[in-house]
Amino acid sequence: MIEVKLAPSILAADFAQLGNQVREAEAAGADRIHVDVMDGHFVPNISMGPVVVEALRRVTKLPLEVHLMIAEPERYVEAFAKAGADTIQVHVEAALDFRQTVRRIRHLGKKVGVVLKPGTSPVVISDILAEVDIVLVMTVEPGFGGQAFMPSMLEKIRQVRQLIDTTRKEIELEVDGGIDVHSTAQVVAAGGGVLVAGSSIFHAPGGIAKGMDALRAASKG
Ligand code: DX5
Ligand code: ZN
Repeated sequence: MIEVKLAPSILAADFAQLGNQVREAEAAGADRIHVDVMDGHFVPNISMGPVVVEALRRVTKLPLEVHLMIAEPERYVEAFAKAGADTIQVHVEAALDFRQTVRRIRHLGKKVGVVLKPGTSPVVISDILAEVDIVLVMTVEPGFGGQAFMPSMLEKIRQVRQLIDTTRKEIELEVDGGIDVHSTAQVVAAGGGVLVAGSSIFHAPGGIAKGMDALRAASKG
């Protein structure tokens, strides 16, 4: 069985201790760091921009994946690439011209993720799937950490897994929102291979490493 990958989402970290918390997640075996970028427009909340990515680049060797929850994402991909992002994830609902945005990200030498809000059907990505490295399925409405996992998204995860399998390409299926010890086993059984987790890692009562261990244990069913 393939080990699930963990992408701690720093949205739930203590921002006054950000460097130390990311180092702790790296030491505990995180596979990548998930950075949620919000503009108060595409989603109602505001979070962080390229300066945070630049600062993180100096404290970790882990890949930085930037989840853009912003309007007109094509305007900002270059700034995030320059700041040190390794992967740029764009909502299919936000990009004016998704293909063009993918090309721009590739041209900058970065990996590309396509993100689906809960209400977006996987059908809309079938013709762009072959051009991306990651499909990120949202299992909460984007905008805030700490929300409850939507079990109705399990069917969508299964559908995306099937779509990916038909491409015969190594496209990762990542899941974001409400991932905790209760939802993890179902997500993995449905085909999720990379788990984004904020609250269940950074707010874990026993600390970051224990939170990650608990998710890994839960992923084994
Ligand atoms: C929500 C973000 C998530 C968020 C997940 O819009 O995309 O990455 O940080 O937080 P939890 O794990 O607390 O649901
Ligand atoms: Zn996210």
